[in-house]
Amino acid sequence: MADLKGKVAIVTGAASGIGAATTKRLISDGAQVVMTDIQVDAGQALAQELGATFLEQDIGNAERWAEIVDATKDQHGRLDILVNNAGLVVRKSIEEVDLESWNRGLNILLTGPMLGCQNAIRVMKQNPGGPCGSIINVASTTAFTALPTDVTYTSAKSGVRMLSKSVAVHCAQQGYNIRCNAIIPGATSTAITATMPDEVRAVVAATSPLNRFGEPQELAAAIAFLASDDCPFMTGSDMLVDGAALAIHPGF
Ligand SMILES: NC(=O)c1ccc[n+]([C@@H]2O[C@H](COP(=O)([O-])OP(=O)(O)OC[C@H]3O[C@@H](n4cnc5c(N)ncnc54)[C@H](O)[C@@H]3O)[C@@H](O)[C@H]2O)c1
Repeated sequence: MADLKGKVAIVTGAASGIGAATTKRLISDGAQVVMTDIQVDAGQALAQELGATFLEQDIGNAERWAEIVDATKDQHGRLDILVNNAGLVVRKSIEEVDLESWNRGLNILLTGPMLGCQNAIRVMKQNPGGPCGSIINVASTTAFTALPTDVTYTSAKSGVRMLSKSVAVHCAQQGYNIRCNAIIPGATSTAITATMPDEVRAVVAATSPLNRFGEPQELAAAIAFLASDDCPFMTGSDMLVDGAALAIHPGF
């Protein structure tokens, strides 16, 4: 358990998968959570079940980001945690990708998290007691190893990883007590991976020496740790939750 009592969080992509598990975990650790997603029915139903607030949001929309963060501050008086989690796959190689899907993919996967960081810092700076907070950006093992079948996702997730470091260094140099870290999930059992044929699932599971997918709650536990005050010297880091998929030499 992380101690998140009194903390206020925004979790994007919270209607499903890692975002839903993170919302549950942050609430059970004591935080108040504003969930956002484009999936309104599922988001509202989960918010009602968990006692969270749900707000509809397309994370690629700059004006909506400002509204979401301001509404959170109006409702709760502060913002302590942002989990930039929403995402999707594009599944087009460099020869297949068209400019429209590339731009839309980057808008959701990279511009959205940047806008989230920017708006969260604006409000975290005004927290009673001085600028403080924790931003957790959900990247991917594709920030380190490329998916040839998804040039947009690979490019965006490596961008999210470095976005996190740039934000972390900026906040530290400005003297803000605002940390920013990237979470690096390996293959995880969620809607994104649910449509994989069984033979593909087996190959993907075997990329981890544990020979299985991660579970959303295993990611949520790591996110809750980064969100807590237990790791004040962790900023600008990559936290791998990948079952050692990136640790093993190919062929072993
Ligand atoms: N599942 C995996 O194997 C895996 C591996 C590495 C990284 N990730 C990352 O984890 C994050 C969560 O994905 P997940 O696996 O839980 O998948 P998921 O599909 O279960 O959840 C993603 C959520 O994001 C929401 N979303 C999509 N586009 C959005 C938009 N424009 N605005 C707001 N919300 C939007 C979806 O509605 C959905 O609820 C993503 O960033 C994904 O890239 C997942």
